Amino acid sequence: MNTDRKIHALINRRKSIRAFSPKKITHSVIKDCLEAARWTPSSGNNQPWRYIIIDKKSPNRAKLEATLSKGNGWAKQAPVLVVVCAREEDDPSYSDTDYFGYDTGMSIMSFVLEAQHQGLKCHQMGGFDHEAAKKVLSIPKEYSVWAITAVGYPGKVSSLDERTQAKEKQKRVRKLITEVAFRDKFGKTY
Ligand SMILES: Cc1cc2nc3c(=O)[nH]c(=O)nc-3n(C[C@H](O)[C@H](O)[C@H](O)COP(=O)(O)O)c2cc1C
Repeated sequence: MNTDRKIHALINRRKSIRAFSPKKITHSVIKDCLEAARWTPSSGNNQPWRYIIIDKKSPNRAKLEATLSKGNGWAKQAPVLVVVCAREEDDPSYSDTDYFGYDTGMSIMSFVLEAQHQGLKCHQMGGFDHEAAKKVLSIPKEYSVWAITAVGYPGKVSSLDERTQAKEKQKRVRKLITEVAFRDKFGKTY
């Protein structure tokens, strides 16, 4: 258990792992995850998210891996890399609120939770050269690339280099509810 409160195991047991097994993921399982993402709520039902699935056989795999930051090298082991992008035109912002980002993030979470349900693990990454990734995948310039998500079955932590192993073994922590939730008005303790 990662929490002292009883929350659903799908949420409680989700973890952004770094050690992936080489075991292949079937197209059917990936389609289930995409189906979960498809049913995400969005502002005006605009569904701005666009997914690009890159498996080990993709002709763009090596070039996409090359865009990852050095610290995200572990992600090269993952059988699937999922790239999600969106553009504002498909889900307009109101005032200073970018709903295309909000909705796209929610859809990734739906993907991640379905993946967790199917026995997979996901690790989202913002640490990559966004412009280079756009170029590699022919993503039009008006799209923002929100994340690359490594997807796969859990592997052996011992397969990671020492530094990454240490990160993998770190205790997962969160802010307290009282730090992030208020009662009646902003700042008033819940
Ligand atoms: C938008 C986003 C970007 C992230 N970027 C990276 C990254 O570049 N490298 C990395 O190792 N983890 C990255 N993470 C994973 C977070 O560090 C991780 O979710 C957080 O530490 C909480 O751990 P948990 O997901 O296991 O609960 C990212 C997560 C999100 C949602």
